[in-house]
Amino acid sequence: MELVSNIEVHKIKKSGISEVNFNQLEFGKYTSDHMLVADFANGEWQTPKILPYANLSLSPAALALHYGQTVFEGMKAFRMANGSVNIFRIHKHHQRLTKSLHRMCMAEIPEDIFIEGLTQLIALDQDWVPSAPGTSLYIRPFMIATESRFGVKISDEYRFIIFTGPVPSIYTEPIKVKVETEFSRAAKGGTGFAKCGGNYGAAYFPTKLAKEQGYDQVLWTDSIEHKFIEESGMMNVMFVINETLVTPALSDSILDGITRDSLLTIAKDLGIKTEERPVSVFELQSAFENKTISEAFGAGTAAVVAPIKTIGINGTDFHLPAYSADSKSSIIKNKLEQIRAGNTEDIHGWNFIVP
Ligand code: COI
Repeated sequence: MELVSNIEVHKIKKSGISEVNFNQLEFGKYTSDHMLVADFANGEWQTPKILPYANLSLSPAALALHYGQTVFEGMKAFRMANGSVNIFRIHKHHQRLTKSLHRMCMAEIPEDIFIEGLTQLIALDQDWVPSAPGTSLYIRPFMIATESRFGVKISDEYRFIIFTGPVPSIYTEPIKVKVETEFSRAAKGGTGFAKCGGNYGAAYFPTKLAKEQGYDQVLWTDSIEHKFIEESGMMNVMFVINETLVTPALSDSILDGITRDSLLTIAKDLGIKTEERPVSVFELQSAFENKTISEAFGAGTAAVVAPIKTIGINGTDFHLPAYSADSKSSIIKNKLEQIRAGNTEDIHGWNFIVP
């Protein structure tokens, strides 16, 4: 890999870190001192810069603001037991970003800019990586179409930015979800597998209605018949049915979650049977009636594992047993945390230690 060693760095005059209460972090509240910025113009990426975190200046006609060419990633860096900083699964996040950008007809970001830029950014803001259990530095790479033109067209100009911020664990208490059978998050042939802004915007209204009914999130179903489970809110979803870890198979309407992949891989390593296949709403309801379902949880970068306590299916709430340290989800999550912290061998090469 050719390294982008000529990244210009403009350091912030006064760090904002003293304003952060690291004992009371909130997801999405704090941003670290610096951001990486790279522009795509005249058919090529310009040399990236590291700048103090600040507002952007954009044309009101910037294409992203109108026609939705926006893509993002969600990643985390962890403070390891020996004090090093670990950017988790950096290559896989770059691969997924590339797939999302391709689907949205946006300029793909070369791996060297992504990795070298992110590494330098995290090295500069390494004091922002928290160390308390469950905390991490959330990393938000994203790209927007910046060409100033209000005709509907594929943009010729883009801005790629990475900013970060310290975050706590979220969804530590089990959540209530509702199987959504009216609205859809993603359709076959659509953009469900891509991490593009529109997928999240489209989810707000059904989620708002579910919240008014007392649920925390929705369980999305397929858009054709609403018979098969797809994802949970902003996460993938997994079930333990008959002692097997079951999750919907990937498709063009399901995000290829990196936490999903990590949990499945760890489960296999631990000798837990796994199945990636269609999971119908009917199967889920039968599993509650036959008492063969013992766990259900969301899996995502932000939440890691979000245990589910209740699933609403067509107006009836079905309840899961309480979770404990012996639950499969707890055992797998714990192993993932041990790998990230460097307390157990990283046999799959997932950790990327910041030099
Ligand atoms: C993540 O889990 O990282 C996500 O992207 C979900 C959300 C915070 C948008």
